[in-house]
Amino acid sequence: MPDATPADAPVFRPGLLDGQVALVTGGGTGIGLGISELLAELGAHVVIASRKAEHLDAAVGAITARGHRASAVALDVRDHERVKAVVQEVAATHGRIDLLVNNAAGNFYAPSATLSPNAWKSVLEIDLYGTFYCTQAVYPIMAAQGGGRVVSTSMTLHYRGWPLMAHATAAKAGIDALTRTLAVEWAPQRIRVNAIAPGPIPTEGVRKAFAPPADSGVPDLFAAAEEKMAEYARTGIPLGRWGTPRDIANMVAFLASPAGDWITGAIFVVDGGEWLAKPPM
Ligand code: COA
Repeated sequence: MPDATPADAPVFRPGLLDGQVALVTGGGTGIGLGISELLAELGAHVVIASRKAEHLDAAVGAITARGHRASAVALDVRDHERVKAVVQEVAATHGRIDLLVNNAAGNFYAPSATLSPNAWKSVLEIDLYGTFYCTQAVYPIMAAQGGGRVVSTSMTLHYRGWPLMAHATAAKAGIDALTRTLAVEWAPQRIRVNAIAPGPIPTEGVRKAFAPPADSGVPDLFAAAEEKMAEYARTGIPLGRWGTPRDIANMVAFLASPAGDWITGAIFVVDGGEWLAKPPM
């Protein structure tokens, strides 16, 4: 389990994002939910998009029960036509979209030699195509309103070889390239495009995505007994603890705030220093 962390304490001023509209894909669980909760706490109306209705209802219920603003929309980011329709609908309902958080992702460990075309396609379509579809769809709205921010979810695994993750590392490398390219292409429209590369955060979805095949010899970081988990955090992560959704949410809020006004095309690693210290697999 993650250690108790000061990162969960409020650090931004109340009302920082008052009047803003944020669309968060995959925002119903895990890191996406943490992002949705913080943006709503800071005053934004958060539209949470997810494939699964049960996640949407629970997330919106939890946020609105605290007196914040959130609504839900069913969306599979792989469906280009549906992405366009949802973005139009959100803009029509709220009059604007200030922030898009491309958080939806799907990963699993699988040997590259046996990866089926559909397995490859599934991850590329969710992570890379989905990020592009959503980002392209908000462009005309953000351009017409005089600017906006896009924050996408990358990772650190493609910074070196990461066996059994060819599909996800290829997709996330694509997201990095997209982030840098769109940052330059859309700067004249004042659309800031950045990404965050999270380190290990043991949410349920991440545990599922990073459960290695039984015979792969890859250690399952997230399935160990609690004391082993704590030991890994102390010895494997320079800053000595697991990450939390709030660690990532804080970076999103920073980038959404005026503090991020001169930041575009950047990919922020938020991982307690893990990737720099980790021995190659
Ligand atoms: N190893 C090898 N292939 C796998 C696999 C695995 N662990 N998991 C899925 N696949 C393959 C499927 O066999 C299928 O290919 P096929 O049609 O050739 O058999 C293809 O990937 C699509 O699988 P399916 O289950 O239909 O995909 P989906 O679109 O419903 O969901 C994921 C895809 C990635 C979302 C799903 O695998 C998943 O839930 N992953 C874990 C959770 C997660 O990724 N969370 C994000 C945290 S980063």
